[in-house]
Amino acid sequence: MKGPKVSATALILAAGEGTRMKSTLPKVAHRILGVPLIGHVVEATRAAGVKRVVVVTGSGAETVESLLATANVEFARQDVQLGTGHAVMCAAPVLGAFKGSLLVLAGDCPLFTPETLARLIDARESAGAAVAVLTTRLADPSGYGRIVSDEDGRIAGIVEDKDLTPEQHSITEVNTSTYCFDAQTLFAHLQRLENSNAQGEYYLTDMIEVLRAEGLPVVAVEAPDATETLGINTRVQLAEAAAVMQRRINERHLLAGVTMTAPGLVWIGPRVEIGRDTVVEPMTFLMGDTRTGEGCVLGPNARVFDSTVGSCCTVDSSLVSGSTLADRVHVGPGAVLRPGTNVAEGAEVDAGANIGVGTITCNHDDRAELRTVEGWAALRRDDEQGDQ
Ligand code: UD1
Ligand code: MG
Repeated sequence: MKGPKVSATALILAAGEGTRMKSTLPKVAHRILGVPLIGHVVEATRAAGVKRVVVVTGSGAETVESLLATANVEFARQDVQLGTGHAVMCAAPVLGAFKGSLLVLAGDCPLFTPETLARLIDARESAGAAVAVLTTRLADPSGYGRIVSDEDGRIAGIVEDKDLTPEQHSITEVNTSTYCFDAQTLFAHLQRLENSNAQGEYYLTDMIEVLRAEGLPVVAVEAPDATETLGINTRVQLAEAAAVMQRRINERHLLAGVTMTAPGLVWIGPRVEIGRDTVVEPMTFLMGDTRTGEGCVLGPNARVFDSTVGSCCTVDSSLVSGSTLADRVHVGPGAVLRPGTNVAEGAEVDAGANIGVGTITCNHDDRAELRTVEGWAALRRDDEQGDQ
């Protein structure tokens, strides 16, 4: 892979309602491992080296925009959802003047790796193409737009599932809804899209035929791994994507020196950092901005959110949220540490402790002493004073 493509800008389409999710929440606000779908897509584009990101919002726009409030992205509004092509038209006021590679992605495809996105940008730029379309081959292509090729095997167009002729149903190469366009060429031809199709929508997929008809070069790039391309339209697909991401993240930690006795029963958020020789036991959730040191034992049955855990700590059957544990802290079983809790080095937070700044209610034995230092609450044993 070449270096990050700092010149490319990303446009993420996230205005759709997601009818097939059967939810009051907009589709891209549904979460995988604690992060909304749209957050995963933004992260992948950033990791591919994209600096400027524009998100098209519409259905549940306030919700989606608030989820991205700190993500440093720009927004374009699509007030009525007339299709993916129309969503891009709505971004013209924000991006119409942009020159260069425009990576267009769907907000409901959370599994793309930065390497694949960078490869797509590279493919368009090195071919000097008007667009590079990311495709993949699926054993079961139902629901996806199919790639129709010409007699030379080159991409000629994309036909949506609902518009397929009987013969086209057997095509297994599908559109992943990820494209790299030359921005000026895209915006110059967008008004050529029509909505004479089964859904009465302006499909972005029709741009392939439009650009080909102009004699402009169009290329297809096949994604190396079909699991990256999964689009979330139903809760079944949401669960599938969650399982893929869980495996991917857990494997990264296993290879970096973290032990998991049953990785299928461990859920780790994408931003979590774990020190070497830490053991993560089953039924454990490490989420948000959590960092743990080396040689810890987390779980079984632990939930650690947005917390910093030192080295050689244990968290057994407990909830630790927004807290900071120094080294050699032992929590649980059965403790609750609420946001703002700081636990001093070597402390043991016993079973049933329920600690938070300002409010401390805990069961501790006779030897335990409660110390409060500038709003920090810690439960500390007399016999461990030497540990400080
Ligand atoms: C789309 C592609 C299909 C591809 C599939 C891959 C089109 C017409 N079809 O189908 O070829 O195989 O993705 O997952 O592009 N959106 C808007 N505004 C709209 C409509 C959609 O912003 O008016 C957004 C949605 O929020 C979503 C994305 O565009 O994030 C894709 O829309 P969706 O309805 O999921 O399209 P698919 O049927 O999955
Ligand atoms: Mg979709």
